[in-house]
Amino acid sequence: MIKIGLLGLGTVGTGVTKILLDPAQRHPLLKDIEIARIGVRSPDKPRRFSIDAAKLTSDLESIVTDPDVDLVVEVLGGLEPARSLILKAIGTGKHVVTANKAVVARYGHEIFSAANQAGVYVLLEAAVGGGIPVIAPLKQALGVNRLRGVTGIVNGTTNYILTRMQNEGGDFEAILQDAQRLGYAEADPTADVDGYDAADKLAILASLAFGGRIHLEEIHREGIRNVSATDISYARTLGFVIKLLAVARRDPGADPNEVELRVHPTLVPREHPLASVNDVYNAIVIEGDPLGQVMFFGPGAGEGPTASAVVSDILNIVAALKTGGATQPAQTINPLLACPHDHYSKVRPMASLETRFYIRFLTRDELGVIGALGTCFGNQGVSLESVVQKDLRDGLAEIVVVTHTVREGNVNAALNEIRQLKALHSIASLLRVL
Ligand code: HSE
Repeated sequence: MIKIGLLGLGTVGTGVTKILLDPAQRHPLLKDIEIARIGVRSPDKPRRFSIDAAKLTSDLESIVTDPDVDLVVEVLGGLEPARSLILKAIGTGKHVVTANKAVVARYGHEIFSAANQAGVYVLLEAAVGGGIPVIAPLKQALGVNRLRGVTGIVNGTTNYILTRMQNEGGDFEAILQDAQRLGYAEADPTADVDGYDAADKLAILASLAFGGRIHLEEIHREGIRNVSATDISYARTLGFVIKLLAVARRDPGADPNEVELRVHPTLVPREHPLASVNDVYNAIVIEGDPLGQVMFFGPGAGEGPTASAVVSDILNIVAALKTGGATQPAQTINPLLACPHDHYSKVRPMASLETRFYIRFLTRDELGVIGALGTCFGNQGVSLESVVQKDLRDGLAEIVVVTHTVREGNVNAALNEIRQLKALHSIASLLRVL
């Protein structure tokens, strides 16, 4: 029997327990796993299912140091005490399974260095995309490809809000409040709506896809607070939907250690597979050579899906232990499950990004404004694909421009020139196009 120490019996911990206590018609190895101890804040709290009360404790540290526990499952969430408990578990020679993207994205360097030194596994399938298997494929099946792109909808809350804005024509603030009322958004929605959660997940995906650690603060990050019903409506007219995308790319012709990393609302062409990923669903498109593109799609959160991912990690470790591939010394670690890299990727400056842009201007309604905008773009080598002018908004002309693929630095230079134009009222929005 492999003995599990479970840290946390909230939504995910409950889902993990349900799977492990009911192994019928699942993988036969699940029968070799026993939940030995469970760490909770209040051991006396009534539970939704029967659990041996003797296994419950509020002393979480006693679990990670218990010599009888082989594998620690951390599903507490939050940075502390999760980080310290993971490190302590590794320090006492235990394997770890975690769903904690925030801890892995911030402290991956110390966690994986310690794990590699101790010869233990730290697996994190549930940290990205909930129930979607994407971490294991990146480490294994997809690893034979020269990967060049990971593009994902990795935050369910923002996808739910944007889908409703798209369907109802409503503005962000009202729909956020309704999402909070319905339990789709947290009371403090910052981590989701400002793109922090997506950036954490992108750091993990990019690090696995391109083999270099990521400094989280180097990821360009914009959330969805400024996405307006007006932009969604123009995007629709132009053949796009707006999605919060997490994008990591490596240019096969450039420095192999340099990556492009960004999280921002993006105009996605209606015919692109990511355009029809709606509500709380997640999807991740991975591109590589010679594979081409694959898309992973599924439930990005929730008790059952997240627990499925957590238990798949437990199963992988149990299988490795059974085949003798995970005992000390460290050399015996299965390289298809480990995270061996220890250098950092270099992050490309956004000014060198090449993509299409959508820009909405409010200007005075006077002769020659479109010409003047076109001249400023032309001066900086920014070629325009389309220019749309519809009705007046509050007495101002609203002009929407979509560029061809251009360098972001050139667009910024053109916008600096445009800011000098007397006829300009404001640059109401600037969004990138997939
Ligand atoms: N807040 C996250 C989301 C939960 O909305 O996707 C899953 O990580």
